[in-house]
Amino acid sequence: MWDYTDKVLELFYDPKNQGAIEETSEPGVKVATGEIGSIACGDALRLHLKVEVESDKILDARFQTFGCTSAIASSSALTEMVKGLTLDEALKVSNKDIANYLGGLPEAKMHCSVMGQEALEAAIYNYRGIPLASHDDDDEGALVCSCFGISESKIRRAIVENNLTDAEQVTNYVKAGGGCGSCLANIDDIIKSVQQESAKSPLNGHSAKTTTDIASSKQRPLTNVQKIALIQKVLDEEVRPVLIADGGDVELYDVDGDRVKVLLQGACGSCSSSTATLKIAIEARLQDRVSKNLIVEAVEPSLR
Ligand code: FES
Repeated sequence: MWDYTDKVLELFYDPKNQGAIEETSEPGVKVATGEIGSIACGDALRLHLKVEVESDKILDARFQTFGCTSAIASSSALTEMVKGLTLDEALKVSNKDIANYLGGLPEAKMHCSVMGQEALEAAIYNYRGIPLASHDDDDEGALVCSCFGISESKIRRAIVENNLTDAEQVTNYVKAGGGCGSCLANIDDIIKSVQQESAKSPLNGHSAKTTTDIASSKQRPLTNVQKIALIQKVLDEEVRPVLIADGGDVELYDVDGDRVKVLLQGACGSCSSSTATLKIAIEARLQDRVSKNLIVEAVEPSLR
Protein backbone atom coordinates (compact mmCIF):
# COMPACT_ATOMS: atom_id res chain seq x y z
CA MET A 1 0.00 0.00 0.00
CA TRP A 2 1.41 3.39 -0.99
CA ASP A 3 1.81 6.01 1.67
CA TYR A 4 -0.31 8.79 0.17
CA THR A 5 -0.91 12.17 1.77
CA ASP A 6 -4.42 13.26 2.68
CA LYS A 7 -4.37 15.73 -0.24
CA VAL A 8 -3.54 12.98 -2.74
CA LEU A 9 -6.38 10.83 -1.42
CA GLU A 10 -8.77 13.79 -1.37
CA LEU A 11 -8.11 14.57 -5.04
CA PHE A 12 -8.22 10.89 -5.98
CA TYR A 13 -11.59 10.24 -4.37
CA ASP A 14 -13.02 13.61 -5.41
CA PRO A 15 -11.00 14.86 -8.40
CA LYS A 16 -11.44 18.46 -9.40
CA ASN A 17 -11.69 19.53 -13.05
CA GLN A 18 -12.02 16.08 -14.55
CA GLY A 19 -13.23 15.96 -18.15
CA ALA A 20 -12.64 17.75 -21.43
CA ILE A 21 -13.07 21.34 -22.58
CA GLU A 22 -14.80 21.39 -25.92
CA GLU A 23 -13.73 23.76 -28.68
CA THR A 24 -15.64 26.98 -28.34
CA SER A 25 -16.87 29.68 -30.67
CA GLU A 26 -16.77 32.16 -27.79
CA PRO A 27 -14.99 35.28 -29.07
CA GLY A 28 -11.51 35.94 -27.69
CA VAL A 29 -11.15 32.46 -26.23
CA LYS A 30 -9.24 29.43 -27.45
CA VAL A 31 -8.82 25.89 -26.20
CA ALA A 32 -5.37 24.30 -26.03
CA THR A 33 -4.76 20.60 -25.54
CA GLY A 34 -1.63 18.75 -24.50
CA GLU A 35 -1.30 14.99 -24.41
CA ILE A 36 1.43 12.93 -22.86
CA GLY A 37 2.14 9.26 -22.19
CA SER A 38 0.45 6.25 -23.67
CA ILE A 39 -2.01 3.73 -22.33
CA ALA A 40 0.45 0.98 -23.36
CA CYS A 41 2.92 2.41 -20.85
CA GLY A 42 0.35 2.51 -18.07
CA ASP A 43 -0.19 6.28 -17.78
CA ALA A 44 -1.64 8.82 -20.15
CA LEU A 45 -2.81 12.38 -19.56
CA ARG A 46 -4.69 14.81 -21.76
CA LEU A 47 -4.80 18.38 -20.46
CA HIS A 48 -7.22 21.00 -21.75
CA LEU A 49 -6.71 24.72 -21.19
CA LYS A 50 -9.22 27.44 -21.95
CA VAL A 51 -7.20 30.57 -22.73
CA GLU A 52 -8.26 34.20 -22.96
CA VAL A 53 -6.37 35.25 -26.08
CA GLU A 54 -5.80 38.91 -25.24
CA SER A 55 -4.44 38.38 -21.74
CA ASP A 56 -2.93 34.90 -22.26
CA LYS A 57 -4.73 33.95 -19.06
CA ILE A 58 -5.89 30.40 -18.35
CA LEU A 59 -9.61 30.68 -17.64
CA ASP A 60 -10.22 26.99 -17.08
CA ALA A 61 -8.26 23.75 -17.00
CA ARG A 62 -9.47 20.18 -17.15
CA PHE A 63 -7.91 16.77 -17.49
CA GLN A 64 -8.56 13.27 -18.69
CA THR A 65 -6.23 10.55 -17.49
CA PHE A 66 -5.71 6.85 -17.59
CA GLY A 67 -3.55 6.26 -14.58
CA CYS A 68 -3.17 5.47 -10.93
CA THR A 69 -4.12 7.35 -7.76
CA SER A 70 -1.08 9.63 -8.09
CA ALA A 71 -1.76 10.37 -11.75
CA ILE A 72 -5.32 11.44 -10.99
CA ALA A 73 -4.30 13.51 -7.97
CA SER A 74 -1.35 15.13 -9.83
CA SER A 75 -3.54 16.00 -12.81
CA SER A 76 -6.25 17.42 -10.60
CA ALA A 77 -3.68 19.43 -8.62
CA LEU A 78 -2.17 20.80 -11.80
CA THR A 79 -5.50 22.05 -13.09
CA GLU A 80 -6.14 23.82 -9.78
CA MET A 81 -2.69 25.37 -9.80
CA VAL A 82 -2.76 26.84 -13.32
CA LYS A 83 -6.24 28.34 -13.34
CA GLY A 84 -5.89 32.12 -13.36
CA LEU A 85 -2.21 32.08 -14.39
CA THR A 86 -0.91 33.48 -17.66
CA LEU A 87 0.70 30.96 -19.98
CA ASP A 88 4.17 32.29 -19.13
CA GLU A 89 3.44 31.92 -15.43
CA ALA A 90 2.10 28.41 -15.99
CA LEU A 91 5.29 27.41 -17.81
CA LYS A 92 7.15 27.98 -14.56
CA VAL A 93 5.13 25.29 -12.75
CA SER A 94 7.52 22.40 -12.15
CA ASN A 95 6.88 18.79 -11.29
CA LYS A 96 8.21 19.61 -7.82
CA ASP A 97 5.53 22.30 -7.46
CA ILE A 98 2.86 19.72 -8.29
CA ALA A 99 4.27 17.24 -5.77
CA ASN A 100 4.51 19.99 -3.13
CA TYR A 101 0.89 21.00 -3.74
CA LEU A 102 -0.03 17.42 -2.90
CA GLY A 103 2.06 17.44 0.26
CA GLY A 104 4.46 15.05 -1.44
CA LEU A 105 4.25 11.91 -3.55
CA PRO A 106 5.85 8.51 -2.93
CA GLU A 107 9.25 8.54 -4.68
CA ALA A 108 8.17 5.72 -7.00
CA LYS A 109 5.22 7.84 -8.15
CA MET A 110 7.07 11.05 -8.97
CA HIS A 111 6.69 10.28 -12.68
CA CYS A 112 3.03 11.30 -12.30
CA SER A 113 4.07 14.85 -11.40
CA VAL A 114 6.51 14.87 -14.33
CA MET A 115 3.70 13.75 -16.62
CA GLY A 116 1.59 16.69 -15.44
CA GLN A 117 4.35 19.19 -16.11
CA GLU A 118 4.94 17.71 -19.57
CA ALA A 119 1.25 17.79 -20.48
CA LEU A 120 1.14 21.44 -19.42
CA GLU A 121 4.12 22.30 -21.60
CA ALA A 122 2.65 20.31 -24.49
CA ALA A 123 -0.64 22.24 -24.26
CA ILE A 124 1.08 25.63 -24.14
CA TYR A 125 3.52 24.79 -26.92
CA ASN A 126 0.65 23.50 -29.05
CA TYR A 127 -1.26 26.71 -28.41
CA ARG A 128 1.75 28.76 -29.46
CA GLY A 129 2.48 26.62 -32.51
CA ILE A 130 5.92 25.64 -31.24
CA PRO A 131 7.00 22.12 -32.18
CA LEU A 132 7.62 20.19 -28.98
CA ALA A 133 10.82 18.68 -30.40
CA SER A 134 12.40 22.14 -30.40
CA HIS A 135 12.27 22.07 -26.63
CA ASP A 136 14.91 19.33 -26.60
CA ASP A 137 18.53 19.70 -27.50
CA ASP A 138 18.86 17.82 -30.76
CA ASP A 139 22.24 16.36 -29.96
CA GLU A 140 20.96 14.97 -26.69
CA GLY A 141 17.70 13.55 -27.97
CA ALA A 142 18.88 9.98 -28.61
CA LEU A 143 16.56 7.24 -27.40
CA VAL A 144 17.94 5.65 -24.23
CA CYS A 145 15.07 3.52 -22.94
CA SER A 146 13.25 1.72 -25.72
CA CYS A 147 10.81 0.06 -23.31
CA PHE A 148 9.27 3.43 -22.45
CA GLY A 149 10.49 5.55 -25.39
CA ILE A 150 12.53 7.90 -23.18
CA SER A 151 15.21 10.10 -24.72
CA GLU A 152 18.50 11.21 -23.20
CA SER A 153 17.36 14.83 -23.08
CA LYS A 154 14.32 13.89 -21.00
CA ILE A 155 16.47 11.89 -18.60
CA ARG A 156 19.00 14.72 -18.32
CA ARG A 157 16.27 17.23 -17.59
CA ALA A 158 14.79 15.08 -14.81
CA ILE A 159 18.24 14.58 -13.27
CA VAL A 160 19.05 18.29 -13.32
CA GLU A 161 15.68 19.61 -12.20
CA ASN A 162 15.25 17.12 -9.38
CA ASN A 163 18.89 16.57 -8.33
CA LEU A 164 18.66 12.83 -9.03
CA THR A 165 21.72 10.78 -8.14
CA ASP A 166 20.95 7.17 -9.06
CA ALA A 167 19.21 5.15 -11.77
CA GLU A 168 16.42 4.02 -9.48
CA GLN A 169 15.42 7.63 -8.93
CA VAL A 170 15.45 8.22 -12.68
CA THR A 171 13.06 5.29 -13.08
CA ASN A 172 10.80 6.78 -10.45
CA TYR A 173 10.68 10.14 -12.20
CA VAL A 174 10.53 9.24 -15.91
CA LYS A 175 10.10 5.44 -15.92
CA ALA A 176 13.28 4.85 -17.95
CA GLY A 177 14.91 1.66 -16.71
CA GLY A 178 11.71 0.28 -15.25
CA GLY A 179 11.19 -2.42 -17.92
CA CYS A 180 13.83 -4.85 -19.12
CA GLY A 181 16.54 -2.89 -17.34
CA SER A 182 18.98 -3.02 -20.26
CA CYS A 183 19.30 0.79 -20.28
CA LEU A 184 20.25 1.11 -16.62
CA ALA A 185 24.00 1.23 -17.36
CA ASN A 186 23.37 4.03 -19.86
CA ILE A 187 21.34 5.91 -17.28
CA ASP A 188 24.22 5.58 -14.81
CA ASP A 189 26.54 7.07 -17.45
CA ILE A 190 24.17 9.98 -18.05
CA ILE A 191 23.99 10.69 -14.31
CA LYS A 192 27.80 10.73 -14.11
CA SER A 193 28.00 12.99 -17.15
CA VAL A 194 25.47 15.46 -15.68
CA GLN A 195 27.31 15.45 -12.36
CA GLN A 196 30.65 16.12 -14.09
CA GLU A 197 29.13 18.98 -16.11
CA SER A 198 27.54 20.38 -12.99
CA ALA A 199 30.83 20.22 -11.06
CA LYS A 200 32.59 22.14 -13.82
CA SER A 201 29.88 24.73 -14.26
CA PRO A 202 29.78 28.02 -12.37
CA LEU A 203 26.04 27.46 -12.38
CA ASN A 204 26.61 24.44 -10.17
CA GLY A 205 23.64 23.67 -7.96
CA HIS A 206 21.03 25.27 -10.17
CA SER A 207 18.61 23.35 -12.30
CA ALA A 208 18.14 24.01 -15.98
CA LYS A 209 14.77 25.49 -15.23
CA THR A 210 16.11 28.08 -12.80
CA THR A 211 17.85 30.42 -15.18
CA THR A 212 15.78 33.02 -13.39
CA ASP A 213 18.00 32.64 -10.36
CA ILE A 214 21.33 32.08 -12.01
CA ALA A 215 22.60 35.59 -12.64
CA SER A 216 21.70 36.92 -9.24
CA SER A 217 23.13 33.99 -7.32
CA LYS A 218 26.41 33.38 -9.08
CA GLN A 219 29.50 34.20 -7.08
CA ARG A 220 32.07 34.36 -9.89
CA PRO A 221 31.76 36.28 -13.16
CA LEU A 222 30.81 34.19 -16.16
CA THR A 223 33.41 33.50 -18.82
CA ASN A 224 32.51 34.71 -22.29
CA VAL A 225 31.57 31.22 -23.41
CA GLN A 226 29.36 30.72 -20.36
CA LYS A 227 27.76 34.12 -20.84
CA ILE A 228 26.92 33.39 -24.48
CA ALA A 229 25.52 29.97 -23.54
CA LEU A 230 23.34 31.53 -20.84
CA ILE A 231 22.12 34.30 -23.16
CA GLN A 232 21.19 31.66 -25.75
CA LYS A 233 19.38 29.62 -23.11
CA VAL A 234 17.34 32.57 -21.84
CA LEU A 235 16.46 33.56 -25.40
CA ASP A 236 15.37 30.01 -26.27
CA GLU A 237 13.43 29.30 -23.11
CA GLU A 238 11.99 32.62 -22.03
CA VAL A 239 11.99 35.09 -24.90
CA ARG A 240 11.41 33.22 -28.15
CA PRO A 241 8.22 31.42 -27.05
CA VAL A 242 6.64 34.82 -26.31
CA LEU A 243 7.74 36.38 -29.61
CA ILE A 244 6.77 33.31 -31.65
CA ALA A 245 3.30 33.46 -30.14
CA ASP A 246 3.02 36.96 -31.59
CA GLY A 247 4.27 35.88 -35.03
CA GLY A 248 7.86 37.03 -34.50
CA ASP A 249 11.13 35.49 -33.47
CA VAL A 250 14.68 36.41 -32.49
CA GLU A 251 18.03 34.85 -33.26
CA LEU A 252 21.29 35.51 -31.44
CA TYR A 253 23.71 37.01 -33.99
CA ASP A 254 26.78 37.91 -31.92
CA VAL A 255 27.95 38.88 -28.45
CA ASP A 256 30.66 41.53 -28.22
CA GLY A 257 31.48 42.23 -24.59
CA ASP A 258 28.20 43.40 -23.10
CA ARG A 259 26.61 44.18 -26.48
CA VAL A 260 24.22 41.46 -27.57
CA LYS A 261 23.37 41.60 -31.27
CA VAL A 262 20.19 39.92 -32.40
CA LEU A 263 18.29 39.33 -35.61
CA LEU A 264 14.61 40.14 -35.26
CA GLN A 265 12.48 37.97 -37.48
CA GLY A 266 8.91 37.64 -38.67
CA ALA A 267 6.52 40.22 -37.28
CA CYS A 268 9.27 41.57 -34.97
CA GLY A 269 11.52 42.51 -37.90
CA SER A 270 8.93 44.61 -39.65
CA CYS A 271 7.08 45.85 -36.59
CA SER A 272 7.24 49.57 -35.92
CA SER A 273 7.43 48.84 -32.20
CA SER A 274 10.45 46.54 -32.58
CA THR A 275 12.60 48.91 -30.52
CA ALA A 276 10.22 48.55 -27.62
CA THR A 277 10.18 44.81 -28.17
CA LEU A 278 13.96 44.81 -27.91
CA LYS A 279 14.08 46.92 -24.79
CA ILE A 280 11.25 45.31 -22.92
CA ALA A 281 11.06 41.72 -24.07
CA ILE A 282 14.71 40.99 -24.69
CA GLU A 283 17.10 43.47 -23.07
CA ALA A 284 15.28 43.68 -19.75
CA ARG A 285 14.98 39.90 -19.60
CA LEU A 286 18.67 39.36 -20.35
CA GLN A 287 19.69 42.03 -17.84
CA ASP A 288 17.58 40.31 -15.24
CA ARG A 289 18.77 36.79 -16.00
CA VAL A 290 22.37 37.19 -17.15
CA SER A 291 23.92 40.60 -16.41
CA LYS A 292 22.52 44.05 -15.75
CA ASN A 293 25.22 45.46 -18.04
CA LEU A 294 23.94 43.86 -21.22
CA ILE A 295 22.75 46.09 -24.06
CA VAL A 296 20.71 44.54 -26.83
CA GLU A 297 20.99 45.81 -30.40
CA ALA A 298 19.18 44.71 -33.52
CA VAL A 299 21.46 43.89 -36.44
CA GLU A 300 20.97 46.27 -39.35
CA PRO A 301 19.01 44.74 -42.24
CA SER A 302 22.02 45.20 -44.53
CA LEU A 303 24.08 42.85 -42.33
CA ARG A 304 21.54 40.06 -42.47
S1 FES B 1 15.23 -0.31 -22.42
FE1 FES B 1 14.91 0.80 -20.58
S2 FES B 1 13.87 -0.57 -19.34
FE2 FES B 1 14.08 -1.67 -21.19
